[in-house]
Amino acid sequence: LSSEKYNMSRKSFGSVESSDVNFFKSILGDDRVLTDEGDVQPYNVDWLQHCRGQSKVVLKPKTTQEVSKILSYCNQKKLAVCPQGGNTGLVGGSVPVFDEIVLHLGLMNKVLSLDEISGVLLCESGCILENLDSHAREHNFIMPLDLGAKGSCHIGGNVSTNAGGLRLLRYGNLHGSLLGIEAVKADGTIIDCLGTLKKDNTGYHLKHLFVGSEGTLGVVTKVAIHCPIMPKAVTLGYFGVESFENVLRLLKAAKLSLGEILSAFEMADFDAITTTTKNFKISNPISDYPFYVLIETHGSHEGHDSEKLNQFLEEQMASGLILDGTIASEPAKIQSIWGLRESIPSAGLRDGYVFKYDVSLPLQHFYRLVPQLRAKLGDRASVVYGYGHVGDGNIHINLTVPEYTKEIHSELEPYIFEEVSKLKGSISAEHGIGFSKRNYVQYSKDQSALHLMRELKQLMDPNGILNPYKVLPEVK
Ligand code: FAD
Ligand code: MLT
Ligand code: ZN
Repeated sequence: LSSEKYNMSRKSFGSVESSDVNFFKSILGDDRVLTDEGDVQPYNVDWLQHCRGQSKVVLKPKTTQEVSKILSYCNQKKLAVCPQGGNTGLVGGSVPVFDEIVLHLGLMNKVLSLDEISGVLLCESGCILENLDSHAREHNFIMPLDLGAKGSCHIGGNVSTNAGGLRLLRYGNLHGSLLGIEAVKADGTIIDCLGTLKKDNTGYHLKHLFVGSEGTLGVVTKVAIHCPIMPKAVTLGYFGVESFENVLRLLKAAKLSLGEILSAFEMADFDAITTTTKNFKISNPISDYPFYVLIETHGSHEGHDSEKLNQFLEEQMASGLILDGTIASEPAKIQSIWGLRESIPSAGLRDGYVFKYDVSLPLQHFYRLVPQLRAKLGDRASVVYGYGHVGDGNIHINLTVPEYTKEIHSELEPYIFEEVSKLKGSISAEHGIGFSKRNYVQYSKDQSALHLMRELKQLMDPNGILNPYKVLPEVK
């Protein structure tokens, strides 16, 4: 989709002129101001290749002061800015819609400190999640979040999208782990909320404004994150299950039997796993089943934990909830099973265009939309599958079609969002709203809440230069 096809108008922002480029070069030097079409191109296209902007300039600051100078200038000149981290976002929030300047945070990638006792990590926002996790592990800690995009996504992008991921069930969401933040407002003001305390009730919790606001309220430049201790023992179970009802029964049983060590409870249906094994030519460690469940434990005693998980497998095979399964405590096998799960998001892209939905639903309705959508699209869809964080009530539904058509798009939206709203779910569980879902927020947010969101945006970014056309619904 190109911007012309978005069927919307560019807002009356300024256009970047050579005098502006010269100003940016005076702050950043020539190397960190990209203007060649070929250099700028990758920053205009999102990971899913659903959105394509027409930016002419990419800026790569290295310090908070540089971010502040850039934003202060852009605010005065009414130049629109799109903050970009690792560009792995799945809702078109990380790329320009028209010619917004891309502010890429990738060079702000320094770890500032890691407290050996408290586990508080202080770092710049452009650090790659996987690098932070490796650093934390050298000191016997881990990052409190993990996701398939860890090799590219930035901690600043994670905070700005309030990313959930594979272990939210155990370590909670970023609102809990984020202890402090430094961010730059649209007018260049640096907001220092970079506390490192676990408890601090001194006034409004301003840091939370930036969590999940997807670059519309400020640019995150530094964060303080509480890292949990690295588990001494990790065990993984991968099980075949007959029905979704049994997946739910197994979730209840896992909470009862493994509660204190449970660190992940993920599910994927047959089509999600089969598409992945087929498209990436990887093998499924067990045979074909309608549903698969992945259970991970993080504990302190390998013998104890694997004994518990083995006993769980035995009991649940006897009860019939598990049809077949494998348990791993060797790192290579654990990694290969996680690899299969983490490859699901990109598997469908090999077959054509993928419509991706990321919704929260009450557990009794969790899987309901998948068969409903299969029936609705019939053989117009190559495949429709569901997978995700069942332990958190968050399902990902992917629908693959040979190529994008407006007809199928308009059959799916707002239909899916209406259904989710009827079932009292959320139209975006963890990926955010970005550009793709902005006109559907009202399915999950009351008008009073949307009004307050607009008031906050007006207060923090009166000229609307930060990530315009994103998150807030279009005013017609
Ligand atoms: P980007 O994609 O660059 O940006 C995302 C949004 O944040 C944009 O609106 C952007 O403007 C803004 N932003 C980025 N950096 C900053 C900053 N420093 N200051 C202000 N705004 C900023 N998400 C989950 O929640 N759970 C998952 O399990 C998960 N798995 C994924 C697996 C794959 C394979 C992929 C491709 C994506 C996955 N995602 C998942 C989606 C995505 O949200 C996360 O990958 C990640 O949080 C985005 O980080 P990023 O650095 O790539 O941000
Ligand atoms: C996941 O859980 O794999 C991610 O959120 C990405 C996706 O939904 O495809
Ligand atoms: Zn997810």
